[in-house]
Amino acid sequence: MSAIETWGEMVRLEHAQSDRMRGVRPADHWTQCAPQFKADPYRSGDTLVEALRAHLRPADTLLDVGAGGGRLALPLALACQSVTAVEPSPSMCAVLRETAHEYGIANVSIVAAGWPEAAVAPADVTLCSHVVYVVEHIAPFVRKLDSHARRLALAVLFQSPPQSQIYALWEQVHGEKRHPLPSLPEFLPVLDELGIQPEVTELDAPPPRGFDSIAEARESIASRLYVTPGTAAMGRLERALDDSLHESDGVWQVEGTQPLRPCIVAWQTAGR
Ligand SMILES: C[S@@+](CC[C@H](N)C(=O)[O-])C[C@H]1O[C@@H](n2cnc3c(N)ncnc32)[C@H](O)[C@@H]1O
Repeated sequence: MSAIETWGEMVRLEHAQSDRMRGVRPADHWTQCAPQFKADPYRSGDTLVEALRAHLRPADTLLDVGAGGGRLALPLALACQSVTAVEPSPSMCAVLRETAHEYGIANVSIVAAGWPEAAVAPADVTLCSHVVYVVEHIAPFVRKLDSHARRLALAVLFQSPPQSQIYALWEQVHGEKRHPLPSLPEFLPVLDELGIQPEVTELDAPPPRGFDSIAEARESIASRLYVTPGTAAMGRLERALDDSLHESDGVWQVEGTQPLRPCIVAWQTAGR
């Protein structure tokens, strides 16, 4: 199997397993957690924002594909001419719109559509942060990130799948191994098959967020494992969490959780 086929197969298997455990797919997957993607655009000390900003020039236009609530689009808009945020989730678009309004950032426009189907003009730089893990047809997605960037394309991915920290709990609760989503190790061979040779920069992991209480941890993890209250699966999850949740300085975490390190995958597109 080629790297592109392997990628598609991993996404299909993970999605099929999720659908089987969850039942009906929600129309907007992000409704509950979209507010978590709101962040102060003027914050300092965010390593990812600083590393991305270093790639931008003041006159650049930026296309942020899967911009979410604007965690990156808004601070980067302060460092370039304008940002076009392509985002299919209505709840994420709402957070982005409200945050831009709250902070008076007027050089961000939103295209409420998915990639690669969104009809948008090319930009100097394209950015796609923490999106590709769930993209089954990765080749047309990346080709359009490449063809719509006049100078530079940037992808941000973790070295492991975003939910990998709770894959062990998945197995304890559902009695089967979680099919992993693809992440950086599968992405680089995909780029290679597409004739793209990127530079990869590994960043420090942000401090783990953790949970304020056992109840919050239980609710958040249950939702990510598609477990509902009052079920046998919830009983198994509660027992597993009794063993694995621990508290330090008022923050609860699953034991042995290693913070995920983001990587910036960058390639020049001019002349390609
Ligand atoms: C984990 S969030 C990341 C948001 C933001 N890029 C960040 O790093 O904070 C993933 C986002 O990708 C969006 N997304 C998923 N599939 C997409 C697609 N095919 N085209 C564009 N965006 C997509 C989701 O709606 C969601 O807002």
